[in-house]
Amino acid sequence: PDRYAVMGDPIDHSLSPRIHTLFAEQTGQALTYEAIQVDQGGLAQALGNFGASGGRGANITVPLKERAYALADELSDRARLAGAVNTLTLADGRLIADNTDGAGLVADLTENLGWPLAGASILLVGAGGAARGVIAPLLEAGPARLLVVNRTPDRARELADHFRHLGLVEGGGLAAAQGPFDIIINATAASLAAEVPDLPAEAIGEQTRVYDMMYGAEPTAFLGWAAARGAAELADGLGMLVGQAAESFRIWRGVRPDAAAVLATLRQELI
Ligand code: ATR
Repeated sequence: PDRYAVMGDPIDHSLSPRIHTLFAEQTGQALTYEAIQVDQGGLAQALGNFGASGGRGANITVPLKERAYALADELSDRARLAGAVNTLTLADGRLIADNTDGAGLVADLTENLGWPLAGASILLVGAGGAARGVIAPLLEAGPARLLVVNRTPDRARELADHFRHLGLVEGGGLAAAQGPFDIIINATAASLAAEVPDLPAEAIGEQTRVYDMMYGAEPTAFLGWAAARGAAELADGLGMLVGQAAESFRIWRGVRPDAAAVLATLRQELI
């Protein structure tokens, strides 16, 4: 069977092999999917080895997405805009690159959760790679307003400048997040350290829906903070993970798996 893999560091706890195995079962596709630990300097060689031994495609995760961007022979528009790559197709020694993270987030928000983006006021917290990867797809969904805020304000302003040709996007410091917003999305790494960005309480109102790109068996620190301030609905990033995987699977295999069914299975396994 065709071989696929996810490459990153650390990679032991990646859920991608489980997700793609479920997709393959669901759609009757014959393939294998494994996790390969690859460090910063080793991506080119790892991809060469993988391609030479039957590898057809790879997902690329932390900390290699920018490296994959630099190695790509062909970039999709959305990978170019994100400046990062999470999906590679290996074709005759060439690397065809895409980025499905933003599509995964938008699919989770609109299809799984039913949170409308068109006309919404959206706050995106964070200005690292995770934020950069989702701005274009969010703007494409037609929000009334997208404000990017970050602990280091200049990084958010630079991101807003980079994407301004695509729609209404502004940048600023955390204190600029004067809401209430319809939707708040946490794209910072703060939850990893059980920290919460220092946002004004006014960012959240009774109608505010709050999303954290992080996920775990327990609610993240950010979602705990949002709940305590009376947010209307909360969601973690497991659906985004499944959504980006579904879009990668579609690119590789030409069939779209049922992401919602796999998300439900995974949610049970996580508990
Ligand atoms: P990633 O690729 O995951 O986005 P990154 O590029 O290192 O990783 O960016 C991490 C993001 O999390 C940044 O927006 C960072 O804010 P700074 O730019 O000010 O460093 C944010 N972040 C990390 N820890 C945070 C914390 N405790 N409070 C607020 N923001 C935090």
